[in-house]
Amino acid sequence: MATLDSLVCVKDFEERAAGILEKHPLDYYKSGAGHENSLQGARDAYLRVQLKPRVLRDVSKCCLTSTVLGKSTPMPFGVAPAALQRMAHPEGEIANARAAEKLGSIFVLSTLSTTSLEDVAAAAPTARKWFQLYIYKDREVTRQLVKRAANAGFEALVLTVDAPILGIRYADARNKFSLPPQFEVANFKGITRSDMTSSGEGSGVNEYVASLLDSSLSWKDIAWLKSITSLPIILKGILTVEDALLAVEHGAAGIVVSSHGARQIDTVPSPLEVLPAIVENLKGTNCEVYIDGGVSTGTDIFKAIALGAKMVFVKRPAIWGLACGGQEGVERVLHILKRELEVTMVLTGTTSIDAVTREYVRIPPDWISSKL
Ligand code: LAC
Repeated sequence: MATLDSLVCVKDFEERAAGILEKHPLDYYKSGAGHENSLQGARDAYLRVQLKPRVLRDVSKCCLTSTVLGKSTPMPFGVAPAALQRMAHPEGEIANARAAEKLGSIFVLSTLSTTSLEDVAAAAPTARKWFQLYIYKDREVTRQLVKRAANAGFEALVLTVDAPILGIRYADARNKFSLPPQFEVANFKGITRSDMTSSGEGSGVNEYVASLLDSSLSWKDIAWLKSITSLPIILKGILTVEDALLAVEHGAAGIVVSSHGARQIDTVPSPLEVLPAIVENLKGTNCEVYIDGGVSTGTDIFKAIALGAKMVFVKRPAIWGLACGGQEGVERVLHILKRELEVTMVLTGTTSIDAVTREYVRIPPDWISSKL
């Protein structure tokens, strides 16, 4: 494997990964919905926020520690769920989880993992692990899955709420994407369908989701989920103040302001630009607000925290790290982001996560209206 030494930023990893991965998996990981305006927009939003560095403060000590769901975490960012990781590297989800474990950050495992949740938990026993949940039409399948996640030591459920069906990604449709047959949706081996083979019409992932996941899901199902588990429930895929308030009403412990990596529907706003209004409206509640999408530097993470995110999740950067060097590649990506965040804090005169506030950024005025 080529050395990772020359890769000094996430963009370097992205470019290297594009040369390593085969076309279909690469397209699957990188694509957004439609003509990908929102994919670009999610990144661009970070450029529309400017830093306000303050000087001549004692910055000789800087601490990245934060608190999430009542527990201390050494850094305010973690690894977002991503399906089908063994296409990126033979060790897939295990390598990714172990890298997060090494750095002490939170790892979110996808329901559509190519390694079983039990195997991931056994391989990274001390990692702080959350489980991303899709609800299956067969509620018994879901019930068992939730039970297994709790038994394996996952500490929260991250329910994806923006994917009753999967968005249209043109590359996957053209490729008639299928999960290569040497892999499987490992959590369901012997339980329900565990292949994702395209019928030849379009993407096999879209077909899988359409045939097995429950598109009738509604707010009342949050109560059902709460009735079958005592794990905290985080709702991922919220982009409006209205839904954020409903999440609080339905007892969510947290929400992820997210456009699903801009993979579901094109021309939605970027998660970053709706974040301030959502944070404003959830002030005084117990519901924590996290964000994902469009993050590729530690400075981006700083900006999301300054706008009120309690935790930031990165997905594609970890996938690029995985493709370039397995566990070591992801570790390096996480180190880079951590170091960049630290440098941004020091050079803006903020030396603790609590100190990173709106005072240190300039944002477009229309981002702060209280309803979006
Ligand atoms: C995706 C789903 C599976 O975005 O989360 O491809």
